[in-house]
Amino acid sequence: MSSARLVLASGNAGKLAEFRALLAAYPVEWVGLGEFPGISMPEEGTDYRQNAIEKARTVALATGLPAMADDSGLEVAALGGAPGPLSARYGGPGLDDDGRLQKLLAAMAEADDRRAAFVCWAALARPDGRCVTREGVCTGVLLRVATGGGGFGYDPIFQPDGHAVSMAELASTEKNAISHRGLALAALSPELEALVAWG
Ligand code: IMP
Repeated sequence: MSSARLVLASGNAGKLAEFRALLAAYPVEWVGLGEFPGISMPEEGTDYRQNAIEKARTVALATGLPAMADDSGLEVAALGGAPGPLSARYGGPGLDDDGRLQKLLAAMAEADDRRAAFVCWAALARPDGRCVTREGVCTGVLLRVATGGGGFGYDPIFQPDGHAVSMAELASTEKNAISHRGLALAALSPELEALVAWG
């Protein structure tokens, strides 16, 4: 068994909980950014993949440990793909998760086309700067009313294709099996296994 330590390069509590569950099978010690105060994270742009690379690389270089990061967002067809990479900032700095989803519901009040997709790019960076990325996409529709208390962010207003409930009503294991983040991390598993073997 390896005693490798890897850093989860995110300060988002909802994401961290999902990362930890998704990565629990690997024989590594996952540490949070809280153990490394003072790392200044890069400004986020509008390219998921580039954002994920920059977050993971910044943390791997600063800590000397491999680091995993993601950049994700909700793309709404009727809004031309918005809020997309700007999902965390939708509606401006004064809003919390509930404020953002209420704003999105209001923006979509008249829309019949409810198609949407969660998109995630996950990046795994090594301290020497090498970095691999993978994408995961979860398609579905936007609901008209928020329902469910699980997950985080826009989960209460997103119904994944093939399900009759919101993402926030799924058990966390069910969400992780179909989610954009779960799919991106599953696609990264060969690289994670190689990293664990490499120690
Ligand atoms: P990031 O930290 O810039 O990647 O922000 C991603 C934002 O997209 C989050 O703050 C949420 O608003 C939204 N988001 C990403 N993944 C999820 C998810 O799994 N459920 C609900 N909202 C999500």
